[in-house]
Amino acid sequence: MDTKVLSSGVRYSKLPESYVRPESERPRLSEVSSCEDVPIIDLGCEDRAQIVKQIGDACKSYGFFQVINHGVSAEAVEKILEVALEFFSLPVEEKLKLYSDDPSKTMRLSTSFNVKKEKVHNWRDYLRLHCHPLDKYVPEWPSTPPAFKEVVSNYCMEVRQLGFRLQELIAESLGVERDCIKNILGDQGQHMAVNYYPPCPEPELTYGLPGHTDPNALTILLQDLQVAGLQVLKEGKWLAVNPHPNAFVINLGDQLQALSNGMYKSVWHRAIVNSDKPRISIASFLCPSNDALIFAPNSLTDDGSAAVYRGFTYAEYYKKFWSRDLEKEHCLELFKKNSLSA
Ligand code: OGA
Ligand code: NI
Repeated sequence: MDTKVLSSGVRYSKLPESYVRPESERPRLSEVSSCEDVPIIDLGCEDRAQIVKQIGDACKSYGFFQVINHGVSAEAVEKILEVALEFFSLPVEEKLKLYSDDPSKTMRLSTSFNVKKEKVHNWRDYLRLHCHPLDKYVPEWPSTPPAFKEVVSNYCMEVRQLGFRLQELIAESLGVERDCIKNILGDQGQHMAVNYYPPCPEPELTYGLPGHTDPNALTILLQDLQVAGLQVLKEGKWLAVNPHPNAFVINLGDQLQALSNGMYKSVWHRAIVNSDKPRISIASFLCPSNDALIFAPNSLTDDGSAAVYRGFTYAEYYKKFWSRDLEKEHCLELFKKNSLSA
């Protein structure tokens, strides 16, 4: 039965053909190292200079870090995880009312990544929401479960403040003015992906999300507290980012790689699936405003290092991102100064 989404209550005993990756593209889970972990930075620390240094180091060496004592309330986190699980437990008929595979929709339930463009599908359903300004978008959000709108909008407001604080710290770590990143990004958009990865009959053959970089500026990820699945690429090896209590996982998106003139990386990451338990993750994306012109500030290029990327608007970038397959080359490559397609 084709129900469009995976969270339909059907339990598969075999992975459907359209999800099976060719041998050379499989996750090879036994080769993933889980002993090392990405840095955990305590934002509650009194010593701002130390936080700035830790963030700078993490951005240079990992492109990923986790934060604790981040100011987002435990209540907001608990409630959104609860309401997300409730949402994906709704009857499939209810959920399908929100289904769309058109990436330009500002609110939709979808599956995999880009159903119409991709060759192989991914073992994921997701609810995608626009979250800024809230009063514009909340009315189109799901009205079941009944607490959804209130819980999710509260969470969005708290996470947005954390995002701004991180952008200031990241700016300082680059040696530019505290407000420099925020000023370039303009009135930032905020999107959310509520990801649901159902138990998968053959996790070795597929992905929840294949390796990709995020096209936005900054991603704040709330991972399932029990079920691991996020992995990041470091020095050619996939590394598990195991859930850490009360932490968010932060990664820089393509826009901060461009803005830092390539000093900080928008790192490849992926989500793998497992055969026992569903996994939830909630990704909040801060994005430049559509007309923001993305460029590296002069102070990052005036030491003689040439600008790596040409200036572009976020609208132009985003269009390019969704026109491709997710796991192909880094989208930013297409915006290099000497790139043929630039
Ligand atoms: C994403 C993402 C990872 C995860 O939504 O862009 O990378 O663990 N998610 O769900
Ligand atoms: Ni991502």
